[in-house]
Amino acid sequence: MKRIAIVGATGAVGQEIIRLLELRHFPLKELRLFASARSVGKTISFRGESLPIENLQDDVFSTIDLAFFCAGSFISKQWVQIARDKGCVVIDSSSAFRSDPTVPLVIPEINEGALAQHKGLISSPNCAATILLMPLFPLHRQFQAKRIVTSTYQAASGAGARLVDELQKETYAYLEKKPYSPFLPFPYAFNLYTHNSPLTESGYVEEELKMADETRKILGDETIRLTATCVRVPVLRAHSVSANVEFAKSFTLEEVYEAIQKADGVKLFEDRAANRFATPVDATGQNEIFCGRFRLDKTQPNTLEFWAVGDQLLKGAALNAVQIGERL
Ligand SMILES: NC(=O)c1ccc[n+]([C@@H]2O[C@H](COP(=O)([O-])OP(=O)(O)OC[C@H]3O[C@@H](n4cnc5c(N)ncnc54)[C@H](OP(=O)(O)O)[C@@H]3O)[C@@H](O)[C@H]2O)c1
Repeated sequence: MKRIAIVGATGAVGQEIIRLLELRHFPLKELRLFASARSVGKTISFRGESLPIENLQDDVFSTIDLAFFCAGSFISKQWVQIARDKGCVVIDSSSAFRSDPTVPLVIPEINEGALAQHKGLISSPNCAATILLMPLFPLHRQFQAKRIVTSTYQAASGAGARLVDELQKETYAYLEKKPYSPFLPFPYAFNLYTHNSPLTESGYVEEELKMADETRKILGDETIRLTATCVRVPVLRAHSVSANVEFAKSFTLEEVYEAIQKADGVKLFEDRAANRFATPVDATGQNEIFCGRFRLDKTQPNTLEFWAVGDQLLKGAALNAVQIGERL
């Protein structure tokens, strides 16, 4: 029985972690909740108790065994080492340490074995990468992915509560024909835009580079090539991805469906007769990654197209972090 902390407990991911710890009967003897000074004084209910939100202090981690960090990279860079130095194990949902070769980057269904090498810190991957990799992994294991071309359709909640609020307010204003000044340099309601992470010199935005780097690290194969286009769409929750994957080995669609149906955490969601495939609304609140539309690319051999949708706050963040905690 562990003493657990959540840093960023009032945020979108933190709230889901609290809900999952309760729902999944996570073995713990004490839960402590941390957020910014703005939230001190608030309480959050957990297992029938009202827990106070606390401010971070240097000495708190000496009384914590396991901490979920979900307060963004800046806070992780500032506090994770302090926590580790006090003997606390950290599961970090931010991107702060994902590319550090000494830090395991783990999706338990794919590379649980990497947990054995942890030195007090495990990173949980980028949400869009997770939604792509969950259905890709069982296929990669059998047919060896060589090159992936992917596009994402990412929900507002992936960027936090402020963007969700903006999308809702803008949509109301648009429908009521009221003037509205968006905080983005363009309208978001009934619109979409390339991902807002910083543009790099390569022409890719950081989110696109994260997908490529994290895919190689999680699959443990530096030779896999991945090129991504990440797009923010006017959806409240759950990201979608399309993927075109060239494999080293030949395969049939029957083998693909068989591999997907056996895979953990992945659910085939399609009704071909009705031309009905997974949508973000279907995937919202669901633990599994929904996938379908598996089809052979007609333009080159050994190449597969597919579609996947997942709740980026659950498997893309909170659920994955809690599963890592359960495995530990
Ligand atoms: N949203 C997603 O879909 C998603 C998916 C995968 C990974 N992630 C990653 O998960 C992390 C959290 O994302 P989120 O969407 O949950 O963010 P969020 O909703 O903006 O929540 C941020 C949390 O950090 C807390 N915080 C801010 N400043 C703090 C400080 N100085 N000390 C302690 N806590 C502080 C906030 O507390 P206050 O409420 O007091 O401000 C809040 O609890 C990010 O690194 C993000 O990249 C998010």
